[in-house]
Amino acid sequence: MNEEQRLQNGLATDDAPKQKTTEKDYSKYFESVYSGPSLKDAKKRGKEEIEYHDNFQIDPLFKGMGQDRKFHIQTFGCQMNEHDTEVMSGIFMALGYEWTDNVKEANVILLNTCAIRENAENRVFGELGHLKPLKVGKPDLLIGVCGCMSQEESVVKKILKTYDQVDMIFGTHNIHRLPEILHEAYMSKEMVIEVWSKEGDVIENLPKVRRDNIKGWVNIMYGCDKFCTYCIVPYTRGKERSRRPQDIIQEVRQLAAEGYKEITLLGQNVNAFGKDFDDIDYRLGDLMDDLRKIDIPRIRFTTSHPRDFDDHLIEVLAKGGNLVDHIHLPVQSGSSEMLKIMARKYTREGYLELVDKIRTAIPNASLTTDIIVGFPNETDEQFEETMSLYREVGFDMAFTYIYSPREGTPAAKMQDNVPMEVKKERLQRLNKLVSDMSAEAMKPYQDQIVKVLVEGESKRNPEVLAGYTEKSKLVNFRAPRSVIGEIVEVRIIEAKTWSLDGEFIRVVKKEKVMG
Ligand code: SAH
Ligand code: SF4
Ligand code: F3S
Repeated sequence: MNEEQRLQNGLATDDAPKQKTTEKDYSKYFESVYSGPSLKDAKKRGKEEIEYHDNFQIDPLFKGMGQDRKFHIQTFGCQMNEHDTEVMSGIFMALGYEWTDNVKEANVILLNTCAIRENAENRVFGELGHLKPLKVGKPDLLIGVCGCMSQEESVVKKILKTYDQVDMIFGTHNIHRLPEILHEAYMSKEMVIEVWSKEGDVIENLPKVRRDNIKGWVNIMYGCDKFCTYCIVPYTRGKERSRRPQDIIQEVRQLAAEGYKEITLLGQNVNAFGKDFDDIDYRLGDLMDDLRKIDIPRIRFTTSHPRDFDDHLIEVLAKGGNLVDHIHLPVQSGSSEMLKIMARKYTREGYLELVDKIRTAIPNASLTTDIIVGFPNETDEQFEETMSLYREVGFDMAFTYIYSPREGTPAAKMQDNVPMEVKKERLQRLNKLVSDMSAEAMKPYQDQIVKVLVEGESKRNPEVLAGYTEKSKLVNFRAPRSVIGEIVEVRIIEAKTWSLDGEFIRVVKKEKVMG
């Protein structure tokens, strides 16, 4: 497809040169389109128009490209990446490729990468090292790097310099161009790089092959405009742009019709959903109010930012039904000073007020969170404020991280006087509190009956089935495999720290969800 045809098809044009050979060539290209994470440049982007395209189609030229070929995608990072992998799998299948679990059998291997912390990136570089020997004796094997790391200039340069086993690198905005990128990679002997096509697009009707047929992910928005000072995501995922409500509702209806039992709405900051609409006043609360009328047992969302969590959303969530009473609400720190330097734009008190509001409206709501310890210059007292906030809120669980500087973000330029040893010790203390409080949150379940959506065999013991409650508690129990995919009642016989063991009672008959 040439540039003109691509424009006619409404697809993003890409001014990336088609082949890159040297780091120098690449730098020139990169400078012309993107010069590394820049807060100033990124903040200007809000003014660009968002374009919606719903006519994705595969160029007939590429049909059959995957005949007798297999693909494998290794996914790192968050649900957003997991879901992007489902979309790329859909495109591969539409091209005639077959999925394989075995990298040795694959003709194309993609690493869908995550840039959130240094160790996430190191895992990817390690994996690239492991893949190198596969190239020997299999010259037509294509290895590709996509996802958030490929949006970082320093990463692309490093790959060019050190990892010549890589055949293609493409960014998070270029997924729909996978057929063209593969075609280029087959035709060219050089590394194909296509990183920064227009970020303001929303592309509908992309093919998807979902990982399971019980729980489904549905994107409601892309990107992030929050620019927390430590975070790389606003640079790797571009600006906030929401999908149109009717497209989301249609997708959820379709999944309900296909028998899915649970939907998770995805966005880096789902509470900003709809902020970018200039023709309608329609936010996350309105969307949830429409979705709860769809006949599907459970609807969740992730991740919500405390700042945009409005009263209407709380009001709608309080209606219950298929809207689950588990809210993941990352706080990051319990110290208002730290929150200010992180640019989270709320205070400790503000967060606690929001928790109060949620608990008043939804008394049994289970809250979980994300916390960063060892942010530059965090004092012991400030860390203790995180510990006390954790206790005060009574979180059920948390994901906890040591701060990892990300090149190009404002925090990476901050001087830091906290030794790594101290950061590690704080993380350990916090983790102890998190596990104690998780055990505490599990105790009341002893001898209770809970409803579990059965996902399949337990990872630890294939004779045991596992699933989650509405509040996202993992439950293990023995039952016939025929109940996989059903919602069942289980009596809890042992409450552990991170999970519950129980005995199967019965399958729950289909309940009518809302009228
Ligand atoms: N959009 C979500 C967060 C996505 S990233 C939100 O704002 O809630 C998931 C988590 O990774 C964040 O909540 C944060 O706790 C952690 N994280 C992000 N950047 C980090 C960094 N540079 N170092 C350590 N942890 C980080
Ligand atoms: Fe990163 Fe989340 Fe902040 Fe966005 S809201 S910058 S994704 S931590
Ligand atoms: Fe990682 Fe990108 Fe998700 S940086 S956490 S994969 S948005």
